[in-house]
Amino acid sequence: MNDKTNPLIEVRGLRKYFGAGSHPVRAVDGVSFTIREGETLGIVGESGSGKSTIGRMLIRLLDPNDGEIRFQGRDIAPLSQRQMRPLRSRMQIIFQDPYASLNPRMRIRHILGEALDTHGLAQGKARRQARIAELLDLVGLRPEYADRYPHEFSGGQRQRIGVARALAVEPDFVVADEPLSALDVSIQAQVVNLLCELKERFGLTMLFISHDLDVVEFLCDRVIVLYLGKIMEIAPTETLYRQPRHPYTQALLAASPVPDPARRGEHRPLLSGDIPSPADPPSGCVFRTRCPRARPECAETEPALAEIAPGHWKACLRDDPAPTVLQGIAS
Ligand SMILES: Nc1ncnc2c1ncn2[C@@H]1O[C@H](COP(=O)(O)OP(=O)(O)OP(=O)(O)O)[C@@H](O)[C@H]1O
Ligand code: SF4
Ligand SMILES: [Mg+2]
Repeated sequence: MNDKTNPLIEVRGLRKYFGAGSHPVRAVDGVSFTIREGETLGIVGESGSGKSTIGRMLIRLLDPNDGEIRFQGRDIAPLSQRQMRPLRSRMQIIFQDPYASLNPRMRIRHILGEALDTHGLAQGKARRQARIAELLDLVGLRPEYADRYPHEFSGGQRQRIGVARALAVEPDFVVADEPLSALDVSIQAQVVNLLCELKERFGLTMLFISHDLDVVEFLCDRVIVLYLGKIMEIAPTETLYRQPRHPYTQALLAASPVPDPARRGEHRPLLSGDIPSPADPPSGCVFRTRCPRARPECAETEPALAEIAPGHWKACLRDDPAPTVLQGIAS
């Protein structure tokens, strides 16, 4: 992955407000970013920051209010659902709750077959059977499982089926929206490894949405840190985790439990207070009501997302680096 790889998706000024009137919920408020071919881009941020809304807009499950979504160079934001139809098979989503997203009355064979049919793939009984067996094998399930129903599987197995269904149509782009959070911790690692393997094998381009900072660090090439519908920081994963430059990123990382037992004592929740309502966000910098470095000017001016090092962007008015909370790792 490098800067020369072609962008698959280019998002500019993307916006989604829910509700009318003078105080709509500003779920996503003018975000711009690129996802390159073969890249896994992570989005992290607290609950309600707009992660799912972004993911759903990118594949046009939700209509944006404003902004561009270029997919292979073509702006798909203004397309009607009908115009989107030929593109549907090229973008897929893996949902958080694998049970809710699988029809309980359908055998796995039909669930996967339906995905193939919708897009006119693997027609004819023999080809279809072969493709279903191949898909199950791909996600580490036995071919005879095709005749079972969703409830006959464990949570982890169901999520594998969700992955198989998304991959059935050989998409160019997959949104994975908290694909692990409904799973037992003990099986999360298996699904992470599966996604990692598929990414290597097919060069899959993915938007990976998660609360779990460790999984994001493991799986993603670059990461977006989102707060109240705005991007606070974007950087290559290693840079973001070792040299977080935005006060919000620093607080998020400091608040997350440190896995290394020798460093457990360093767990320092710096994030105090609640997230303000996205229907009435603070003036100036949206993070200012919780920012340990806020100054009066932060209420006046909204910081622009600016490149502070190659590929490393942050939206903060103060450019003197704060004493980094992760100095121990960075050095
Ligand atoms: N259909 C909707 N109608 C009204 N408000 C909505 C709708 N969907 C989302 N929102 C609001 O938009 C904001 C962003 O929601 P979103 O689901 O994108 O956040 P998220 O970052 O995915 O959160 P979580 O981590 O809890 O999944 C929230 O304030 C949410 O309540
Ligand atoms: S602009 Fe001000 S309030 Fe916002 S993150 Fe920077 S220092 Fe904190
Ligand atoms: Mg969500």
